[in-house]
Amino acid sequence: MPSNEPVLVTGAAGGQQGSTGRHVVRLLLERGQAVRAFVRTDDERAAALRKMGAEVAVGDLREITDVLAAVRGVRRAFFTYPVTDGLLDAAGAFAAAARREGLERVVEVSQLAAAPDAGTPRMRQHWVAEEVFDRAGVGALHLRAGVFFENLDFLVRAGAGRELAMPLGSLDTVLPLIAGADVARVGAGLLADPAPDRPDPVVLLTGQVMTVGEVVETYGGGLKYVDVPPEEWRERAMELYGGDAHVVAHLDKLWELFRLIGSHHELYEVTPSIERFGGREPGTLAGFVRGRVG
Ligand SMILES: NC(=O)c1ccc[n+]([C@@H]2O[C@H](COP(=O)([O-])OP(=O)(O)OC[C@H]3O[C@@H](n4cnc5c(N)ncnc54)[C@H](OP(=O)(O)O)[C@@H]3O)[C@@H](O)[C@H]2O)c1
Repeated sequence: MPSNEPVLVTGAAGGQQGSTGRHVVRLLLERGQAVRAFVRTDDERAAALRKMGAEVAVGDLREITDVLAAVRGVRRAFFTYPVTDGLLDAAGAFAAAARREGLERVVEVSQLAAAPDAGTPRMRQHWVAEEVFDRAGVGALHLRAGVFFENLDFLVRAGAGRELAMPLGSLDTVLPLIAGADVARVGAGLLADPAPDRPDPVVLLTGQVMTVGEVVETYGGGLKYVDVPPEEWRERAMELYGGDAHVVAHLDKLWELFRLIGSHHELYEVTPSIERFGGREPGTLAGFVRGRVG
């Protein structure tokens, strides 16, 4: 239900990982919903958001004074923070500010297997962030998403479209995947709906379940999968991800989990939540690749 009271959307400029915030801004504006877009830098991406009709707030999500100013006068918000250091600082500041301002709903991006004993440090942090939001009493909903298409796409592009070098074991290893845009579509749906029936704050999100072999086939163009040893991948990854040890530690463990699980896990299924809250069937990797090429 469109309202003149803005919905606050963080990560609104979009980045390398999924641009979920940027998609949420667009989807809410398309519904006629006023948006306050939170960006870290007032750059050309912020200018584009203003042009689309969003109000722009500039600040650092880890800085409580910036976050308090941004939540003033809003009741609903989308929270996302990229895979890098600082998630718990940002979640803590955001939850405290949202509680103080009396927000009624915060939809936040998490990961599919977030749990206190999850296999990667980042997934465990996501679980802690979920707990912080739950305890703040701000109507938190957690979008626990599978691997973004964008994540694999980055590695395909790093291999110049010829080689997908990852330590995933055989071509039969299975990956639960989703488009960043579908995570955003669900987020926008949950923010626009005045009273979604959600007794469970956790929303599992997987749009397509594929083997590594199917991923490579979908890209086509001679793309070959190379099963690199984990040590070698870690070395390459430090270069690829600009020396960000947080990203490399997370992905290193994530690929190991997929390699060890192989093909069967209870979380490896397409979730009805994407169509239910996002309003349409999940996008496919084939569609994502065509969109990128064309
Ligand atoms: N990648 C995957 O496969 C995957 C799978 C499941 C879940 N997730 C989750 O998805 C989330 C990341 O997706 P995303 O769409 O948000 O990533 P993204 O496309 O990288 O966007 C991140 C946005 O946050 C902004 N930002 C970064 N640090 C900030 C700060 N300190 N203060 C204010 N803004 C800041 C960035 O701005 P600048 O560009 O200006 O820095 C950017 O606009 C993570 O929580 C991750 O765990 C990812």
